[in-house]
Amino acid sequence: MTDTGAVLGVDFGTSNSAAGTVRDGAARLIPLEAGGETLPTAVFFDVETQKMLIGTAAGEALLAGDEGRYMRALKSLLGAPLMREKRMLLGERLDFIDIVARFLAQLKEAAEAATGLRFDRALSGRPVRFHGDDARNAQAEIDLRDAYLRAGFKEVRFMFEPEAAALANRDMLAAGDLGLVVDIGGGTSDFTVFRSDDNGIDILASHGVRVGGTDFDRKVSLDFVMPLLGRGSDIRHAFGGDTHAAPATIFNDLATWQKIPFLYAPDSRRLARDLAQYAVEPARLARLVAVLEDELGHDIAFAVERGKIAANTGRVGLIDLGVVERGMDVTVAAAQIGAALDDLAQEIARAALRTVTDAGIAPNGITHLVFVGGSSLMGVVEETLCPQFPGAAVHRGSALTAIADGLALGAEAAFVLSEDGGQPPSP
Ligand SMILES: Nc1ncnc2c1ncn2[C@@H]1O[C@H](COP(=O)(O)OP(=O)(O)OP(=O)(O)O)[C@@H](O)[C@H]1O
Ligand SMILES: [Mg+2]
Repeated sequence: MTDTGAVLGVDFGTSNSAAGTVRDGAARLIPLEAGGETLPTAVFFDVETQKMLIGTAAGEALLAGDEGRYMRALKSLLGAPLMREKRMLLGERLDFIDIVARFLAQLKEAAEAATGLRFDRALSGRPVRFHGDDARNAQAEIDLRDAYLRAGFKEVRFMFEPEAAALANRDMLAAGDLGLVVDIGGGTSDFTVFRSDDNGIDILASHGVRVGGTDFDRKVSLDFVMPLLGRGSDIRHAFGGDTHAAPATIFNDLATWQKIPFLYAPDSRRLARDLAQYAVEPARLARLVAVLEDELGHDIAFAVERGKIAANTGRVGLIDLGVVERGMDVTVAAAQIGAALDDLAQEIARAALRTVTDAGIAPNGITHLVFVGGSSLMGVVEETLCPQFPGAAVHRGSALTAIADGLALGAEAAFVLSEDGGQPPSP
């Protein structure tokens, strides 16, 4: 028998990643960086050291203002044609699959250093739907698989993320109970209906939508911050006295984590300068120009995310925009954020209901709601979703690690069938 090494369970998330393996029948998460079981899914191409930093170090380099290129929410680009477009980074021509691959290669190396094991195979989580568009959804898994292979894994299998969370929470239910996993992450919301029996759990249905915490950030940014940079304000025509509203795309992109790096290209900067020149309120558009020139898009996105979480935790949240202009900030009340995010929360609740319908179960037949994922902590999500399932007790799994736990638990089994010549479990 050839030595195939151990299997690593990997939760490659939009915002955070984690990895684990099984020891003595229990899931063990592997510390991938000092001080934590999860690792921000972020990279920084550092011009000075010519190295690609990942995780917390990447965020610190951005914050310190080091020269380089920061990227976050790379998972949201999977399946898009630009994943395979090459661009120059630190003197190399790389596509986005290479960037994800290098992130995964560093994750693999850290996991091997921490455990002394060799990981040739990975069981990776994947959202039930990366995208609403079918072709792009299928391409996203192909892209992610390529990234694992380029990272040095010899084989990779996939498991739906909410199914992994169901596995991690299998002991929570008594035989006959019906659970609904609600996993609201950074990029997607995923649902699994499962029944507990004496032998473990039975997956009855899974479904997902492309809505997550980064969409919440985007909406908060568009509603409360982008108007200060000129969103919706009037631009004079170069000739004649007419005006039109500033084009929406540049603000939409600036409010979208994965699109921010593209705005630092010369054509976007030129567009911003043109808008400022003809703006009815030039001071606002001048801020947009400065943000693109000084590459402050991610700083704003982090300020928005912090404000969102603060408003969710307390009654008001402060979005500190001091990096844009000294002393500038926006205060948003929890109720305002709830109202702004209502449509997104409704979309999430509809997808949850659909999963239960797909399983052939009436909503009041669900006995347990299991909330996981960072954005499941958003009050507006719970308030919108819970009334749909009046018979369910609410259970909170470990928000940021349940999926990696489940992938660790399922890792070895995912490869057993295929070694016997049978079909691997595939979503
Ligand atoms: N206390 C909180 N309240 C509200 N939102 C939060 C809180 N803590 C974290 N979040 C949000 O949770 C999201 C990250 O959650 P998580 O780590 O589960 O996502 P992910 O696994 O990286 O993404 P996905 O599963 O969609 O690929 C971010 O959008 C973050 O802003
Ligand atoms: Mg997740």
